[in-house]
Amino acid sequence: MSYDLIVIGSGPGGYVCAIKAAQLGLKVAVVEKRATYGGTCLNIGCIPSKALLHASEMFDEVGHLDALGIKVAKPKLDLPVMLAHKDATVKSNVDGVAYLFKKNKIDGHIGTGSIAAPGKVVVTKEDGTSETLETKAIVIATGSDSAPLPGVTVDEQRIVTSTGALELTKVPGKLLVVGAGVIGLELGSVWRRLGAEVTVVEYLDRILPGMDGDVAKQFQRLLDKQGFAFKLGTKVTGVDTSGKTLKVTVEPAAGGAAETLEADVVLVSIGRRPFTEGLGLEGVGVELDERKRVKVDVHYQTNVAGIYAIGDVIAGPMLAHKAEDEGVAVAEILAGQAGHVNYGAIPSVVYTSPEVATVGATEEELKAAGIAYKVGKFPFSANGRARAMLATDGFVKVLADATTDRLLGAHIVGKGAGEMIHEAVVLMEFAGSAEDLARSTHAHPTMSESIKEAALAAWFKPIHM
Ligand code: FAD
Ligand code: NAI
Repeated sequence: MSYDLIVIGSGPGGYVCAIKAAQLGLKVAVVEKRATYGGTCLNIGCIPSKALLHASEMFDEVGHLDALGIKVAKPKLDLPVMLAHKDATVKSNVDGVAYLFKKNKIDGHIGTGSIAAPGKVVVTKEDGTSETLETKAIVIATGSDSAPLPGVTVDEQRIVTSTGALELTKVPGKLLVVGAGVIGLELGSVWRRLGAEVTVVEYLDRILPGMDGDVAKQFQRLLDKQGFAFKLGTKVTGVDTSGKTLKVTVEPAAGGAAETLEADVVLVSIGRRPFTEGLGLEGVGVELDERKRVKVDVHYQTNVAGIYAIGDVIAGPMLAHKAEDEGVAVAEILAGQAGHVNYGAIPSVVYTSPEVATVGATEEELKAAGIAYKVGKFPFSANGRARAMLATDGFVKVLADATTDRLLGAHIVGKGAGEMIHEAVVLMEFAGSAEDLARSTHAHPTMSESIKEAALAAWFKPIHM
């Protein structure tokens, strides 16, 4: 069988690339080693975690409705039903991708793909049989895998990655999370709301490194109130699994006396690494960078002509929508069009309660780059809708160029932040200014009015503060 394009990996990068290329008239195949399509995101990442985040948030909220005049008995947890909801959500999404492949006449090949030569992909099935497919172009979209913690062996039962943390059949009494990044705080939130005592051990002296410092500080205070315990500037040096309870040895990152913490489950969430195993990249001479990511040029082509790469396996934020947009761009390039991703306007959302959402530069980045900027901030406590919903935690912060007023970044902590951020994304895509945002009419009463007020604060003066 001969194709225009073979995509290896069917995550958000790979499946979106395949669909877009097929829509543009290319004959496309996808090779996926998992039994279902959709990659990390749909099977063991974005989708199952959001199903559990939503369900656990509802569980927690039902227990806190007194202030709205609603009295309900203490909610009871039916964990198997909650997990079944998560599994059903995953199934409907991965089945959706299979349907879209059929609809777009994309051939799906289940098996491990390896590149024998440019234009030749070998698919090895689970039973060991293999088949060689021919193609004009290959896109590597093999994603990423969780990074291991040296000296700690994951069994996905008591010492888990995000994959095991989405499958726990019992709420752990004590959950110790290693890493205060996105996975640790999202999945820590799920189990905290369901009753676990959660301690987060973080190597650095702050949570969510890379996010705006104001946001991280305020968010940590809110998580403290929810009962999270943080041990910042601390590293895990080992886990003793011999007893009924895990004994976790930690010590200050800067060195000092060790201490032992007890836990029923340890979640290792210290980042993810690109996944290139078994692809045969060495054989065909595809170069990797110093962090073992596939090196690509501005057109997503590797150093070997006809072999491209996108998504978590290349540089940049490890986000589903970044992978998707790269998938679209490379499909357009292969179809002779001009594909492009604006890396300055990729939003990032932490789906906790409240949510954290951010796009563009942080204040720290602007300072480091020596760019003169203006800050506009507006707290949800001054927003009428937020008061009506008892959702006054958090704020909006916008950063605009001091001279041109162009919006350089937006950062939100608050209920619905993950939806609200997109008005800043679209504005930045069109190189808009704080004044543009401040002059756009926002419906009243909405949480989004706080974005307008923050923009007003950056450009001139807020009305409601
Ligand atoms: P992947 O989704 O990792 O897909 C790669 C696919 O390639 C896999 O299916 C794999 O089986 C297959 N593969 C690998 N090697 C081969 C081979 N040799 N042959 C055939 N197939 C192969 N991002 C967000 O934007 N929002 C979120 O809310 C979010 N939540 C997350 C929650 C968790 C718990 C995790 C772990 C991640 C989350 N992410 C989220 C990150 C997101 O999942 C990734 O950024 C995204 O999946 C990357 O897409 P991709 O297509 O590059 O790779
Ligand atoms: P992360 O990079 O977000 O956070 C890892 C954290 O672990 C960092 O704070 C880091 O300083 C810390 N750390 C590293 N080594 C450590 C050590 N030895 N001891 C203690 N702390 C240590 O990685 P995470 O949370 O594993 O997520 C991986 C990727 O998945 C992220 O890059 C993210 O983009 C993506 N993701 C996105 C989500 C979203 O968009 N909502 C949800 C979940 C994951």
